[in-house]
Amino acid sequence: MTFIDFVINVIKPVNARTLLSKCSNVKTNQHDVILTNNAIFVNESVLESLVYDGFLISTDLSLSIEKSLLSEYECLVLPDCVMIKRNTGVLYCLNKVESDLVPVSQRIVPPPVETLDHPTAICLLAKELKGEREKFRYFELGIKDEKEKFRYLELGVRNSPVIDKMKLIATETHGVDINDCGKGKFDTFHQMTTDKYFEDSLFDDKFDMIFVDACHNIENVIKDFNNAFCSIRSGGIILLHDTYPHSEAYINPRLCSTAYQVGPHIRDKYAKKNLVTYVTLPFQPGLTVVRKT
Ligand SMILES: C[S@@+](CC[C@H](N)C(=O)[O-])C[C@H]1O[C@@H](n2cnc3c(N)ncnc32)[C@H](O)[C@@H]1O
Repeated sequence: MTFIDFVINVIKPVNARTLLSKCSNVKTNQHDVILTNNAIFVNESVLESLVYDGFLISTDLSLSIEKSLLSEYECLVLPDCVMIKRNTGVLYCLNKVESDLVPVSQRIVPPPVETLDHPTAICLLAKELKGEREKFRYFELGIKDEKEKFRYLELGVRNSPVIDKMKLIATETHGVDINDCGKGKFDTFHQMTTDKYFEDSLFDDKFDMIFVDACHNIENVIKDFNNAFCSIRSGGIILLHDTYPHSEAYINPRLCSTAYQVGPHIRDKYAKKNLVTYVTLPFQPGLTVVRKT
């Protein structure tokens, strides 16, 4: 299974061909993610069947796009797939108050809303990873009836909405934050900078999943990522939050800051050397999923 297959498996998008054969009224049949494995022609109907901020994943890199739509999408070319994100002149979004589609200029919720439910995405990935390891132990090693160990580390905690869900999956949880905000929530909480945490820690055992969400300045994100890479087991997942800000307004130090610049670093220093595979889910404010090979 390729890495993109793994991510797709978890987020379960709609298949583009099935969708195209069914969509008579695309506006009421919109999806967060559409997947295609075929060289489809991306036309208006395909783009309109995506929700605002939704995206299409094509594992066939030779897909073509209707010329008149060139200014209406953003295209991300990844090693094993292309992601197309709507970027239409007349933006539509889901108005959560009235549960209806309205032009952006008329919506009540100020743009852009956060469209990524990162706790759910992270916990789905954790469950998948843990299940994968349990299957491996059972079928390949013949070990059964033993609880699989799963070690989770969160860098930058604040009022983490991830930890309550993660506690049901992970067997050990560890948190790090400069503020006193994680006591009682994690099995161990370290009130210190992430730099100090990695300097002081001697890991006997590596982590299965690390969520990098502390200081969002690119220099710090790169340091945290490099340290996380050394502390994660092979096959484990590192997640980085706020890596796809919707607009320049979000590159504000109090919001996503410059964390989005971590993509080229991961690509050049790790992915090109086959040390990791990775993908950035382009939901506002973005989540980069990196798997150590
Ligand atoms: C965006 S919040 C974390 C949110 C949380 N992970 C979530 O899922 O909602 C960032 C946190 O990182 C902490 N932080 C900022 N710089 C840090 C650093 N250098 N070391 C450790 N924690 C840091 C802040 O105190 C803040 O609580």
